[in-house]
This record gives sequence, C-alpha cells and structure tokens, in this order.
Amino acid sequence: MSGFGIIGGTGLDQLEGLEVTGEHQIATPFGQPSRAIQEGRFNNQTVFFLHRHGSPAAVPPHLVNYRANVWALHCLGVDRIVGINAVGGITPAMRPGRLLIPDQLIDYTWGRDHTFDNGDSGSLLHVDFTEPYDRTLRMALVNAAQMANITHESTGVHGVTQGPRLETAAEVQRMARDGCDVVGMTGMPEAALARELDIAYACVCMVVNPAAGLGNLPLTLDMMRSILVQEAFVVRALLVALLDQA
Ligand code: HPA
Repeated sequence: MSGFGIIGGTGLDQLEGLEVTGEHQIATPFGQPSRAIQEGRFNNQTVFFLHRHGSPAAVPPHLVNYRANVWALHCLGVDRIVGINAVGGITPAMRPGRLLIPDQLIDYTWGRDHTFDNGDSGSLLHVDFTEPYDRTLRMALVNAAQMANITHESTGVHGVTQGPRLETAAEVQRMARDGCDVVGMTGMPEAALARELDIAYACVCMVVNPAAGLGNLPLTLDMMRSILVQEAFVVRALLVALLDQA
C-alpha cells in the first residue's frame, strides 16, 4: 500500500480542489492527530490531507501532536508526505511571496515530543538525517515548480524555532550567521518523525514576512495572512504539477 500525504499549515487549512471521499479519525499510541485526516481525489490521485493546526486553526506550533499526525498518516499507508510551512524570510532572496523547497534544516525547537523511540524497543533509533528531506521527493517538487513556471528557490536552510512568539532581531541575526535562509515554527520534529517511519518527506516553505528586524513594518498576523492567501494558490498549482508527475 502506498499513499501521498499533505500536511497543511497556516494559510492552507483546506486543500482547494480536493474532492473529499472520506475522513479518518485515527487514535494513535501517541494521542489524537490535530484533526480527522481527509481522504480524497486531487488531480486524479488519492491524497490524504491533514491540517497541522486543527480546524478551525487552533493548535499552536509548540503544542501540535507531531507524533500522532505522522503516525496516523503512516497507518493510512502514506509513504510520501509534503509538509507546507509558512515562514519568515532571512536571506535577501527570501522575500514575502517566495517559495522555498529547502534542502537542509536547523532545529532550534525544544521540549517537543520529537521521536517515536521511547526506549523500550531494544534497539537504538539513530536514523540518518544528514539530508533531512527526501531527495527524490524534493527533486520532484523542484521539477514540478519548473514545469509549472513557479518562481521558487530550490535549495536553502529552514531554521525551525519553538514559538509561538516570533524571534528577536538578534535571534534572527544569529540564525543568519548559522546559515538559515528562512525561519518557521512547524518544520520539526515532523521531518525527523517521518524519517523514523521511513516516510519520504519534503517541505515547501511559503515566505510570508521578512523575519524579525529585517523589514520596515511591525510583524502582524494580518500582514502574513494577506500574503498567505496569494501563496496558497501557488502552492496548489505546485501540488497539481507534482501529482502530474507521480
Ligand atoms: N518566524 C517564525 N515563524 C514564522 C514566521 C517568522 O517570522 N513567519 C511565519 N512563520
């Protein structure tokens, strides 16, 4: 059994164009996923869609049950996941409105349930995370973006902070020195959990604001939302192009 999963974030609480054929309410050993997982047809393919923040969006980044979300998709036979994340832009190319398909990440989160290894399996779960995103799925996304003429950056470092507050200007400067191109709050531990279950995982970052200290305006949710509305259309086109290749 194989299946394709999409985890939507802020601004992508539903997948426009998904003809929903069923909903799966899955209890996992790690608790409840953020909401029922929608199964449906999207671009003539079966897709499982989960909104990370629940519906209506309420679960903040540090309280998302990432383990239950990834486990539930795994139970449905999902072996490829694209995670969609709203982020702030750090490097000059990462202007609001830009899409990034990152190839690396740095995890600044803390205190999240970040592994399925609870120590009683009798073996150590040292998964290789040198390349945190699945190369084949990432390249498929990059090809899809090219085919659909979607302006994007095909490599970059996704820094993931704890939230829910935004960063200080000094934290963003430190992240820039670390080599981060964008900053978001939801990319981890999702990517690592998928790797532990051998699920191919890749990510699309939608830049919705200049990161703290880099723009002229105060950072507000309204500012982010207005960009998100436009970017959600582009992400949808990207996913259609991706599934065209599948
Ligand atoms: N920082 C962290 N997470 C975010 C941001 C940001 O600037 N914008 C959207 N998600």
